[in-house]
Formats: sequence, C-alpha cells, structure tokens
Amino acid sequence: MSAMTPEQIEVLDASLAARTPQEILAAAFEHFDTPDIMLSFSGAEDVALVDMAVKIRPDVHIFTLDTGRLPGETYEFFDDVRRHYGIRIETYFPYTMAVETLVSQKGFLSFFRDGHAECCQIRKVEPLKRALDTVDAWITGQRRDQSPGTRDHLPFVQIDPVFRTQRGALVKFNPLAAWSSADVFSYIIQNKTPINPLHQPLARGGGDYRRLAGPAYVSLGCLPCTTLLHPGEHERAARWRWESMLKKECGLHLEHTDT
Ligand code: ADX
Ligand code: SF4
Repeated sequence: MSAMTPEQIEVLDASLAARTPQEILAAAFEHFDTPDIMLSFSGAEDVALVDMAVKIRPDVHIFTLDTGRLPGETYEFFDDVRRHYGIRIETYFPYTMAVETLVSQKGFLSFFRDGHAECCQIRKVEPLKRALDTVDAWITGQRRDQSPGTRDHLPFVQIDPVFRTQRGALVKFNPLAAWSSADVFSYIIQNKTPINPLHQPLARGGGDYRRLAGPAYVSLGCLPCTTLLHPGEHERAARWRWESMLKKECGLHLEHTDT
C-alpha cells in the first residue's frame, strides 16, 4: 500500500497550488525518504529539477531510461551532470532480447511505419516499470503546457494513473507542472546548470522558444524521433513529427491508445 491515501494526496495537491517547485520537492521529500522516492531525469531541460533536488537533498536518487537511441549530445550531457553534481545516475536499459526481436523482425525504424508505441513500450515503458518497482513515489519534470491535450490538468501530486508498484499505489510528484518552458530555461540560465549541448542555441537566444528567430532544438527525446522546432510551432510538434499532435505520449505518463 502507498503511504498516502487518495484523499491525502488530493489535500496535499491543493495545498501545493501556490508553491514553488522547490517547495513541492521539499514536500515530496518530507513524505517519502530516500531510497523510497526517485527523481526521473531525461537528459533535457529537466536538469533544472536535478539542480533543485540536489540542493535540497544531496542524497536524492536519480534515474534515467537509456533507450539506446538517444542523441550523442545527451550522453555527453549525462556525464557532465554526473561530474558537476558528483551524483550517480541509475541507468535502466531495455531488455536485450526484446530489442533484438523487434529490430530483427521489423528493422531499426519500424516506428515511422507502425507508430512509436511498440518501440517506446520496449525501450522506455518496460524499463520504467522495473525502476518504479523499487520505490513508493517518483518525481517527474512534466509540465502542463508541454503536451497539448494530455498534460493540461496535470496535478502537482497524484496517484500514478498508469503504474503501480509491487507494494501498491505509486505516488507521482510533478513540481514543474505550473511552469512554462521559458520559466525552466530561465532557471537553467540563472543557476548556470549544465546544459544539453542541443539546447545551447535556445539558451543563447534567451530560452523562450516562442521567440525563436530560426529552427532550434527544444523538446528532446530519442534521436530518430526528435526534430528541430520552427518559429511559431508548439514545442511538442518537434517530437514524433509524423504523428498527430494529440498522440504525442510515449507511455511513461499516459497509457497508449490507438484512437
Ligand atoms: S516523454 O513521455 O515525452 O518521453 P518528456 O520528454 O515530455 O517525456 O519528459 C517529461 C518527463 O518524463 C521528464 O522530465 C522526466 O521526468 C520523464 N522522462 C522522460 N523521458 C525520460 C527518460 N528517458 N528517462 C527518465 N525520465 C524520463
Ligand atoms: Fe523508439 Fe522513438 Fe520511442 Fe525512442 S522515442 S523508444 S526511438 S519510438
């Protein structure tokens, strides 16, 4: 069983409404101690959350899901972050046999033909389940403005709508829920955190993608499924560009549907 009931979660969520991300993180660490809570880090602008968390709890457990398809710059960045903060980043890989079967049967780029759900399930969702089986709560860098139609009403804290642990319900904290992309990049610039090299042009331009003068990388994920964002586009447009704007979820935060 989770250490918190759904009713307690609702009360906590309401109490976090006017709080800063740092205060929400502090509340998360008050309710769940290391190692029962872990912070997920994708190797992108969620470094802001790593920076805040390490300053509050230097022993915070941080994990990432290495799909095997990340851009080279993201691997460089993981090592930068590791060195900069002197932290360990638990890294979860997909099951070798599952990847071998997928690629042997369908090739390296099956997601362009069949949609991204199958590959994401093997490379991200299954490893995430293994990671979450070790904790009672996790922390994500999700934001409400990040993905039209799927994250608009994201709470600051919730019972995970997708995953349960072997022990029961899983609690999920989203401290950046109310921040915009520009807020996150402004934090990164002000606090001089390490930055993914793919984000350097955006940061040099001030960090607000709505003011882009030319194409730049904004939302980052796996190399084949991440493209440059063009002025006037929503940040999510650059991910899985061949798919509908309302299906841009990989299954970490929302179950896949075919509708
Ligand atoms: S995704 O669902 O589309 O891939 P997105 O890139 O928006 O996720 O990132 C939102 C949050 O999900 C990140 O801040 C992080 O908390 C978590 N996340 C996404 N990808 C990963 C990853 N590869 N490893 C760990 N956490 C991740
Ligand atoms: Fe596969 Fe693309 Fe999903 Fe990465 S984002 S796991 S490459 S479909």
